[in-house]
Amino acid sequence: MTARLPNGLAAVMGGRPYRWYPSVPSTMDEARAWLREGAPHGAVVLADEQTAGRGRLNRPWQTPPGSALALSMVLRPQPSALTHLPLLGALAVAESVAPLGVTGLGIKWPNDVLVGGLKLSGVLAESEWDGSTLRGAVLGIGLNLSQDFTGSDLDGTAVSLQAALGRPVDGLAVLGALLTQLDALWALVGSAALVKAWRARLVTLGQRVTVSTPAGDLIGVAEDVDADGALWLRADNGTRHRVMAGDVRLRST
Ligand code: BTN
Repeated sequence: MTARLPNGLAAVMGGRPYRWYPSVPSTMDEARAWLREGAPHGAVVLADEQTAGRGRLNRPWQTPPGSALALSMVLRPQPSALTHLPLLGALAVAESVAPLGVTGLGIKWPNDVLVGGLKLSGVLAESEWDGSTLRGAVLGIGLNLSQDFTGSDLDGTAVSLQAALGRPVDGLAVLGALLTQLDALWALVGSAALVKAWRARLVTLGQRVTVSTPAGDLIGVAEDVDADGALWLRADNGTRHRVMAGDVRLRST
């Protein structure tokens, strides 16, 4: 078995507080509730299956049983560092699977981890506020381990680590590597070093893209990212736009 985690999970988690569920609507909600109860920084909620997993921009996220990592980590960042959490998640995923020999690995702005243009992993950062006081944040990560997307609605857009590598993967080992990366990269959150490392893995820069934002679509060249991780787009009419949240699609023309 590659993806079901309870056996050996305690060893991978070390002394880290964690909660594991065979099935849960969303690990985000469990982690947010735990955060409100006082969960410490680094506490993790994991599930084998999510029945109402969610992604960015209110999209659903599928986690069928026995097929993927679905975890949410409680973090206690400074408010000024919140914009770095999506970068942290994507970079940690990329750095944790790179040593397995994944080819064509990259990050699509802001935080989709791709293999050969197909989505391996998605990241969702949410924050909990008490009025104007930040209580904490939850960093959710979904990483496809062994799903076969052939014939599904995600055929041609998603990929599993097993399919990318052409061999079975050890879900516990991937989880361990991911947690190691999250812990190590946490030290860089809020710094230019995190942005630099994330930027080096971006596949979006220099590409002609459509960026769907809440304010509408922008078409142009993805020129750069800034210290917050925002995307700077040069639109076809020459104007520059700073995009904090949106969905990027590469264009052929
Ligand atoms: C995205 O690409 O849109 C982000 C997907 C984030 C999915 C993860 S799976 C664990 C956690 N629980 C959720 O409901 N969502 C995140």
